[in-house]
Amino acid sequence: MNNELTNQVRSKCDIVDIIGERIPLVARGKNYFGVCPFHDDSNPSLCVSREKQIYTCFSCHATGNVFTFLMNYEHMDFKETLRYLGEKVGVDVSSVRVARKNTRFDPYYDAYSFSLKYFQNNLLSKAGKFARSYLANRGIDDNVIKEFEIGLSLAQSDDLTKLFVSKKYSLADLNTIGLSSDARDVYIDRIIFPLYDLTGKVVGFSGRIYQDNGMNKYLNTKETPIFKKGQLLYHYHVAREECRLKKSVIVMEGFMDVIRASTIGIRNTVALMGTALTHEQIQLIKRLSDNIILCLDGDDPGVHATLSIGDMLLEEGIEAKVLVLPNPDDPDSFILREGKDRFENLLGSVVTFNDFKLRKLKETVDFRSDEQTAQYINQVLQETVKVGDPIRVEIILKKLAKEFDLSYNTLEMRFRELEKPKPKTVKTVVTYQVKNKKKTKYEKAMEQILYFMLNNDWVISLFEKERFIFPNEKSRLLASEIVYYYTTYGDINIPDFYTYVQDKEEIVNFLNDILASNYMENTTREELFEYFGVIREYSRTQEIKRLTNSLQKEVDPIEQAKIAEKIRKLRIGDNKNGWRN
Ligand code: UTP
Ligand code: MN
Repeated sequence: MNNELTNQVRSKCDIVDIIGERIPLVARGKNYFGVCPFHDDSNPSLCVSREKQIYTCFSCHATGNVFTFLMNYEHMDFKETLRYLGEKVGVDVSSVRVARKNTRFDPYYDAYSFSLKYFQNNLLSKAGKFARSYLANRGIDDNVIKEFEIGLSLAQSDDLTKLFVSKKYSLADLNTIGLSSDARDVYIDRIIFPLYDLTGKVVGFSGRIYQDNGMNKYLNTKETPIFKKGQLLYHYHVAREECRLKKSVIVMEGFMDVIRASTIGIRNTVALMGTALTHEQIQLIKRLSDNIILCLDGDDPGVHATLSIGDMLLEEGIEAKVLVLPNPDDPDSFILREGKDRFENLLGSVVTFNDFKLRKLKETVDFRSDEQTAQYINQVLQETVKVGDPIRVEIILKKLAKEFDLSYNTLEMRFRELEKPKPKTVKTVVTYQVKNKKKTKYEKAMEQILYFMLNNDWVISLFEKERFIFPNEKSRLLASEIVYYYTTYGDINIPDFYTYVQDKEEIVNFLNDILASNYMENTTREELFEYFGVIREYSRTQEIKRLTNSLQKEVDPIEQAKIAEKIRKLRIGDNKNGWRN
């Protein structure tokens, strides 16, 4: 896929700005450097080139143009990325047709979008009467039903499975993706809330009972190849844009809370969906905004979760804020009862995580006991060490001195003591995908030629004129794409070429490898011929090897003679410089 509009969008935005809006970049020479977000690292190994409009990580070899950066960083698909950038630079991209990339999971996604429509229809049908009144009672109106694509599974136990079987889905597949089990539907007589992946595709369901029948309140899709709970956050695909506008992200416990918040116009929200938070989910939240507001349930488990998530974020260097709800409210029940303004008041009076933590700590202490009091003060000091900001430290110490009638100096001394033994946490640098395989001289020469081609039109022309042929498939493939691109569009540059090959995985990988390898950009005719020579020499020795091999296997003496003659001719070429393949 290549399109003038796509290239126009790409050329109108500067990759340094787009990446710089997301991670801090520092100029060094012609390039910009930052900490690569695609592997665990704290060194600035990501290099962004304004001139070339590409980025390359020297550690994990993540490489690409502004589109691939956003797609990988924001988890958007190409279409979304194009729309986002189009809006930014004022180019109307609505006419661009994006061919969807086929994956082996397509039938799974299809099954989910089919089921979703089916469930949505059920809710609107006669059979959905009770469910609709349950939703209405909870204050969920038609707009909300539409926005969150809420549906209903019927009381019959195998109607959806039968439909899929008639569509030639196997029971085994239906089982794998969690829609059937033992030829029965998984979701029976439940209100269906679709669960989305990071790009907004439906990949799972959560079904809620709506009349008391002794079943578990919620039934969620099991882990499947397309539904990995620990890698998702409910509502992420919507929150992404909203969080940027509102400059904050609100983390809630259940999707009902997110749904309720949307009814009062608050959509910079994500929900955890009842599991312990994974490292990956923490990273996702961090990406939405560094202004993180924890708004979990007001009951004990909610407070517990707040403390543990807040601590996880502290370890990542972020102090969250906490919106404290009365026990036992959750955002849903609070907003429903108290309304928009009251909730917004709470939003305006969030406390820092450290304050919240100390407040909770305090609730457990019996201050009539000197021992407990001293222990409490020590704990407060310990937590204060994590604060960092010296002004806040002083404020906390002063308050503490006043509250317990202690001397400021005593507290400060103890604080300095606790501050000292700070063993530097050594972050393990995971450098995945780094191919340590040493490249041979020939491989390097081939890659260098391809890199010259990408940077210089005249090299492509010469390559064509010389009818040069690479001895390996991978290089031949890339070279033919380069030549095709150049002859079709009359011009070549790396970022646009990138867009053009983006769906060809093998080529992209090879291209990444080349771009991360620090080759020279420009060359002279003479130098280029030397590189050609190296490759031709290599082709020739390979050919001699191959022929010698087949000579050994050949039994027919006439054929033997023919092969021997070929080898002889190639060997003579050995002594001549002008050998051409
Ligand atoms: P809650 O019990 O707080 O749900 O669980 P809720 O949002 O208040 O739901 P309502 O108001 O009763 O309808 C929070 C999250 O935990 C998961 C769900 O993902 C839910 O959104 N959960 C809860 C389950 O998976 N199974 C359950 O039985 C209960
Ligand atoms: Mn609730």
